Amino acid sequence: MRISIFGLGYVGAVTGACLAKAGHIVVGVDPDRRKIEFIRQGKSPIVEEGLQELISEGVAAERFCATDDFLKAVAETEASLICVGTPSLPNGSLRTDYLENVAREIGRSLREKVEHHSVVVRSTVLPGTTEGLLKPILEEESGKKEGEGFGLSMNPEFLREGVSVRDFGNPPMTVIGTESQEEFERISSIYGSVSGEFIHCRISTAEAIKYGCNIFHALKITFANEMGMLCKRLGVDSNEVLNIICQDKKLNISDKYLRPGFAFGGSCLPKDLRAYTHKARTEDVALPVFEAVMASNRMQIERTADRIMAVGSKKVALLGVSFKEGTDDLRESPLVALAEILIGRGYDLKIYDPNVEYASLYGSNKEFIDRELPHLKRILVGADEALAHADVLIFGHDAPAYRELVPKVLERHKVLDLVRIADRGDFRGHYDGLYW
Ligand SMILES: NC(=O)c1ccc[n+]([C@@H]2O[C@H](COP(=O)([O-])OP(=O)(O)OC[C@H]3O[C@@H](n4cnc5c(N)ncnc54)[C@H](O)[C@@H]3O)[C@@H](O)[C@H]2O)c1
Repeated sequence: MRISIFGLGYVGAVTGACLAKAGHIVVGVDPDRRKIEFIRQGKSPIVEEGLQELISEGVAAERFCATDDFLKAVAETEASLICVGTPSLPNGSLRTDYLENVAREIGRSLREKVEHHSVVVRSTVLPGTTEGLLKPILEEESGKKEGEGFGLSMNPEFLREGVSVRDFGNPPMTVIGTESQEEFERISSIYGSVSGEFIHCRISTAEAIKYGCNIFHALKITFANEMGMLCKRLGVDSNEVLNIICQDKKLNISDKYLRPGFAFGGSCLPKDLRAYTHKARTEDVALPVFEAVMASNRMQIERTADRIMAVGSKKVALLGVSFKEGTDDLRESPLVALAEILIGRGYDLKIYDPNVEYASLYGSNKEFIDRELPHLKRILVGADEALAHADVLIFGHDAPAYRELVPKVLERHKVLDLVRIADRGDFRGHYDGLYW
């Protein structure tokens, strides 16, 4: 394919050189004359392992060149990959003027063009930017509609600086956000030689994925650092601790606990988080991220209460109340906290949980519930009574006893689903998934 790359920085130079190596004809576009000269001389404009050789090979084979003539670059290629910078402004917001300029240039170039052209955003942009900001500019400048003359997609870059040339053929995944199947296939074909999974999603999903990945990486590093800081202070080998934590691929390094939804709770997570952060405070070790976790978790319970209150009816049934399904352990259950908020705000709440029988509760479990939700005895009911009572049903657990209630939910019920129990089959559309 003939491809133009807008922006010859870290992303653009590597993408351009690697695509030329893969057999494409690549034209790099950049207003920076020094970068253009570098490429013309077969030199790399940036320091990156293996890039110098790739650029000199590509230029010598006449598969890679550079220009500041954007009109010609678009006219002579079938796809444009936008790789310009999106740095932070002093207040943290995303700077989009380079992107907007490129969209104007590509749009203007498309006005003259008869053949289809694919526009691909590879820069990191906040969800909504490609469709909300760049698409209108492209349409206005080109006088064409997306899908009728040009295609639009978002293809985030996941390569690590320093090893990006090596990573190029072997990325963690290739994400192509586009509303068009044809465009997905066209952009996938650019990366024909690349291994790994190709994922087709919406444009805004692709934009968000890039942020999710980078923030997750930042959070992982901070988790390891905060965990390690207190270990070190307590004379524990932090490296060994993290090494062993990472060996658990079942719960730790896995997709477990990685879905948006309701808050965590139970007799261990809150208690252990509190103990670790308290110990850190007594040792004068600051752990700001660990300290923020409980506050964020509490906020999730309050947000859920607000969503329930926004429905409008005070007749509510909570399906599941223990801290997770398959147990009668109510200690620090976020569903108990939710029930407490609703009762406090005057809601007429009933609770159904086949694992919880008030008469059978004892020990610390009973102490907790008598202190936190003294009304439990009165409001704990059977499934039929819960359904008959409520206008608003909240699925707090996903287990067979609750799953069999899903088809019984009536038209008059408003369902708020905290656990994806109703996210299947015919029931879709009748419920509001509180997956945030
Ligand atoms: N650096 C990375 O490892 C990396 C990884 C993934 C994603 N990203 C994202 O990719 C984007 C690019 O990052 P980068 O580090 O390559 O940026 P960079 O600052 O190194 O390069 C941007 C280039 O765009 C050029 N440019 C500016 N206006 C232009 C225009 N109108 N036409 C053509 N070129 C123009 C600049 O001259 C510069 O050469 C950013 O959104 C970044 O967040 C970067």
